[in-house]
This record gives sequence, C-alpha cells and structure tokens, in this order.
Amino acid sequence: MRRKQTEKEVIKIKEESIIIEREETLEINTLMPAVNSNFDDMERIVDLKSEFSQAMDPILRMYNAAMNEAIARFEIIKDEFQFRKQRCPIHHIDSRLKSADSILGKLQKKQMELTLTAACNCIFDIAGVRIVCPYVKDIYLLRERIMAQDDIMIMEEKDYVAHPKRNGYRSLHIVIRVPVYFMNKKQMVPVELQIRSLAMDLWASLEHDLKYKSSQNESNIDFTAKLYECSKLIYQAEDEMEKINDLLEDGL
Ligand code: GTP
Ligand code: MG
Repeated sequence: MRRKQTEKEVIKIKEESIIIEREETLEINTLMPAVNSNFDDMERIVDLKSEFSQAMDPILRMYNAAMNEAIARFEIIKDEFQFRKQRCPIHHIDSRLKSADSILGKLQKKQMELTLTAACNCIFDIAGVRIVCPYVKDIYLLRERIMAQDDIMIMEEKDYVAHPKRNGYRSLHIVIRVPVYFMNKKQMVPVELQIRSLAMDLWASLEHDLKYKSSQNESNIDFTAKLYECSKLIYQAEDEMEKINDLLEDGL
C-alpha cells in the first residue's frame, strides 16, 4: 500500500497529479541477503569485475571461438543437405560455455588443482555443442562426417547410444580438438560434442529437470529404475517411427 505522504515529501504536485517523493529509500539488503561493506563499495565492485574479466575473458574467448568453429562445421553439413533437397540429419544445434563457477565445481569434484591451467588442460567440456538429430541413424552419419575432417582431432569418444547408462541416458559424446588461430598462432582447442536423437534429447531434458527438482526436495527416493522404464517407452516409439521413415526413404 502507498505510504501516506508528508508535506515535506511531496515536492511537486501538478494538475495531472504527478507526485515526486524525495525521502523514499530503496532497501537493497532485501535484494542481496548478505550486504556487507565490501558489497556496498562501488569502487571495489568495479575492480572485482575488471579483475574477473582480465582472468577469464581471454580463456572464454578462446573456447567461444572453438565452439563457433565446431558449430560452423555442422552448419555446413546442414546447408549441404538442404541445398541437395535431401532430408537433413540435423534437427537443431545447441551450445553453451561453462561458467567460471561450474568450471571450479568440476575441478573440486574431480579433486584437481584449483587453477585455470588445470581447467584448460583437464576439463574438456568448457565448450559444449549438442547436435540433435531426427533419427538414431543420423547420429552415426554425423559422426562419420566429423571424423572425416582431417583438421579435427578426436580425443575421446563415449557411445551411450550403443551402451546406455543405467538410468536410460543415451547420447554419443565425442571430444574433438578444433583449430583456432590467435595472432597467427594455432591452438587445438577441445570441444565436447553431444550427438543425440530428438527422443534422447526429450528424455535427457526431462530427467535433468527431475534431477534438479529432487535435489531441491532433498528426497532420497531413487527413480533410476522408473526413469529407465520411461526411456524404454520413448525409444520404442522412436524406433517404430524410424522404421516408417526407412520404408518411406528406401521405398516400400
Ligand atoms: P565429466 O568429466 O563431467 O564429463 O564426467 P563424465 O565423463 O563421467 O560424464 P560424461 O562425459 O559421460 O557426461 C557428461 C555430460 O553428459 C553431462 O554434463 C550431461 O550433459 C550429459 N549427461 C551424462 N549423463 C547424463 C544423465 O544421466 N542425464 C542427463 N540428463 N545428462 C547426462
Ligand atoms: Mg565427459
């Protein structure tokens, strides 16, 4: 409810009744629970931001360039299929850069040295690209296409399509190194590719959401078996639809 104005506060009342109040203060501690003198000092806030940028920006720019390079490779494949008016094996592409917070979290989880050097040398998913395909067969077609590019190095491959996780998670993970040129110097920068079908993406997105909700609930119930059952239903439907597509593409 609007506070009753005192005479001193109301400095201007026009005919159209615009009221300007002077003594209203914003209580920023309701926005920031832990306001202390460090967080209130604007000079310090700007210094912290600039220190953070000095350390992180060059690293993130390098990973961002690598991520864009990887995306470009898949966009070219997509374009080629569209140009030839053939069914495209790429439905959509998502990408993300890991935040500094989450890089630190991963270093801690893996009990590695908490340094940027360790992060760059031991964490291979700072740049991540997810390629979502209509059908399972498209995953392997894209794998073949990317493996055939001779300026790309393959570092690691995990095939959770052929070997799903216990909870039903499926996806093809490939860590590649792509060339990035800075000041005429070539760096081979790692990017994690996750190639999966629409059905795999649907399951993984819902499972991710459920995992987040159950961590908020601090619930101890193990849904692994239930999630595995759901995955079987989804993949069964996908398989049937892929068979229909095969019949249509290869002729009845
Ligand atoms: P990292 O060192 O973190 O890569 O651990 P890891 O090598 O054991 O994991 P992996 O590379 O197999 O998977 C990492 C990424 O795959 C995660 O960041 C998720 O994006 C995805 N992922 C793996 N397992 C699951 C899962 O059970 N559910 C969902 N929704 N995503 C998963
Ligand atoms: Mg991994």
